[in-house]
Amino acid sequence: MQITLDNLKRSYGNLHAVNGVSLAIPSNTIYGIIGRSGAGKSTLVRLISLLESPDAGEVYYDDLRVDNLSKAELITRRRRIGMIFQNFNLFSSRNAAENIAYPMEITGMTRSEIDTRVEELLTLVDLEGRGTAPISTLSGGQKQRVAIARALACKPDILFCDEATSALDPQTTHSILALLKEIQKKMALTVVMITHQMEVVRDACEQVAVLNDGMVVEQGYVTEIFSNPQSEVTKDFLSHLVGVDEASSNSDKMVHWSTKKGAYTLRFRGGTTDQPILSRISRDVGAEFNIRAGGVQKVGDVEIGTMVVDISGDEDMQRKAIQALREQGVLVEEENK
Ligand SMILES: Nc1ncnc2c1ncn2[C@@H]1O[C@H](COP(=O)(O)OP(=O)(O)O)[C@@H](O)[C@H]1O
Ligand SMILES: [Mg+2]
Repeated sequence: MQITLDNLKRSYGNLHAVNGVSLAIPSNTIYGIIGRSGAGKSTLVRLISLLESPDAGEVYYDDLRVDNLSKAELITRRRRIGMIFQNFNLFSSRNAAENIAYPMEITGMTRSEIDTRVEELLTLVDLEGRGTAPISTLSGGQKQRVAIARALACKPDILFCDEATSALDPQTTHSILALLKEIQKKMALTVVMITHQMEVVRDACEQVAVLNDGMVVEQGYVTEIFSNPQSEVTKDFLSHLVGVDEASSNSDKMVHWSTKKGAYTLRFRGGTTDQPILSRISRDVGAEFNIRAGGVQKVGDVEIGTMVVDISGDEDMQRKAIQALREQGVLVEEENK
């Protein structure tokens, strides 16, 4: 199911929570929407998931306009939309299986159909045999698995995840993202992943939109955005990735040799990450690089290197060094520019 948003707007009083968002979210993929707290992510997801109507603009699922459906059409359409949230939103009075059964009870499936489907879903989320567990006895990761199973009960074609891993530790986040990726493939779902965590985008999403003040400031393939970020907001998110993801292997972490900021941020992509570019350029032009921080991250199938450096030498040497870096396909950003 492809989702198209055309100039969506939603205000609360004078506050433009969503202020003219247009996006094409392709079918059968995990699409990230990242933004700081208050950027308008949850408002946007309520509009896309048809929980709320926009003040202006249009929402399409494939070629069908869905922001103006009749009440009856809306109920039918919403049944095939799954949603999961940061705080799980499970019924504490029901056990795991009863939580998963809930949306199917509303649609009027028979008891035996429901029981069969609940067992399937428990297996799908790796909670086989845990159906009778009271919610309070489950860990955060297990609760989110129950919520995922419930969201998938009525075989949705779209799954919205609003900060689904924000309450989880890095290791559990990793396992939930792995599960969501597996389910996305298995069910050919369109997954819209709302987050304020760039590691979630890096580890799970194919494309991403960066939302700020209710507007999309940048959008594209995650590998492209990691290697060539355009907006200040995106660069800020990327700089905070440093050392956050403790669950991943060491190579995912940035190593800091100095707490001082360097004057230049260099971004390498793919094959360039493992070439001794700096020493070669240093030799050719005479400038010296002082590396302040650096590391390589895996983004999808691509390795993206980031280095924070100072470049010493006279002005001409510095200019030549930067030019040589750019010729090698390295992105050079000057601090505060
Ligand atoms: N129901 C509401 N009533 C009034 N203001 C709201 C409402 N929902 C969200 N807002 C405001 O809209 C802005 C965006 O909120 P939200 O969409 O929740 O952002 P995010 O999910 O990115 O943190 C915030 O300033 C928030 O206070
Ligand atoms: Mg939110």
